[in-house]
Amino acid sequence: MSNTLEPSPASGQAAPSEPPETEPLLGRIGAASQREGAPFWKNLIMGTGFLAQIGLLTLTATTWVSIFSLPVGLFTLHPLFNSIGVLLLFEAVLLLQPTHTANQKFKGAIIHSTLTGVSLLLFVGAGVAILLNKIRIKHEHFGSAHAILGLVVYVLILIQAIIGFAQFYTPRAFGSVENAKAIYKYHRLAGYMIELLLVVTLIAASRTTFALGPLSFKTWTVVIGSSSVAIGVIPRIKKEKLGFKCR
Ligand code: HEM
Repeated sequence: MSNTLEPSPASGQAAPSEPPETEPLLGRIGAASQREGAPFWKNLIMGTGFLAQIGLLTLTATTWVSIFSLPVGLFTLHPLFNSIGVLLLFEAVLLLQPTHTANQKFKGAIIHSTLTGVSLLLFVGAGVAILLNKIRIKHEHFGSAHAILGLVVYVLILIQAIIGFAQFYTPRAFGSVENAKAIYKYHRLAGYMIELLLVVTLIAASRTTFALGPLSFKTWTVVIGSSSVAIGVIPRIKKEKLGFKCR
């Protein structure tokens, strides 16, 4: 397997030096950068990453408190698997954001693809669970904003995972390694769009009849959790990785 990740401008250079005294407390925008030899788990909390972790914890906890306050059944698997899938998908991105050398990007992509692979399996399980549950209770399919958004996001995640896997593991599928590298920026952009859509789908889940009724899945906790995730993820986006020229 070849390393198909585009060489970083920082490849082979020394680890970034200590931030200057004048730097904002949470670091400059996009500044979270992994030091050479530093463990990958630190990328999850680096810079504003800890705010994303607090948000993800809030989202997972609020989902679990709601679903386990009711008798466990086939439906339980839907929010349970989705919540873990969302958690892993965000961690997969948070882990990769601070990478900047070719070596870090290569190792990071292997962990990233493993985490997204597991989350994809969880999303399939969650989708099958809600479909079977609706067939069982003879309830109409895709009759709410959450259901439609959910279907769209499942399909987008599947497409994103297939293209991302092919880019990294079978780049020749794109004609050449260079062609595969050239579209990484679109993979990143699509990834952030999917994350946004996931958050909107979660908020829409809290507005379904079942969530407003017996489930008592509160919109305000989802909004607070999602906002914290956004404040954690957005400032760490490196614009140059999205193909924008930076000075
Ligand atoms: C972001 C992750 C999620 C995705 C992608 C997703 C996706 C879906 C999809 C595709 C359906 C439609 C199934 C059908 O109509 O046959 C659905 C229904 C449903 N989901 Fe989710 N879901 C997610 C998270 C959640 C969570 C966390 C909850 C609750 C805590 C939840 C509660 C529900 C409920 C109550 C329905 C039935 C809605 C209705 O009757 O229209 N979902 N979901």
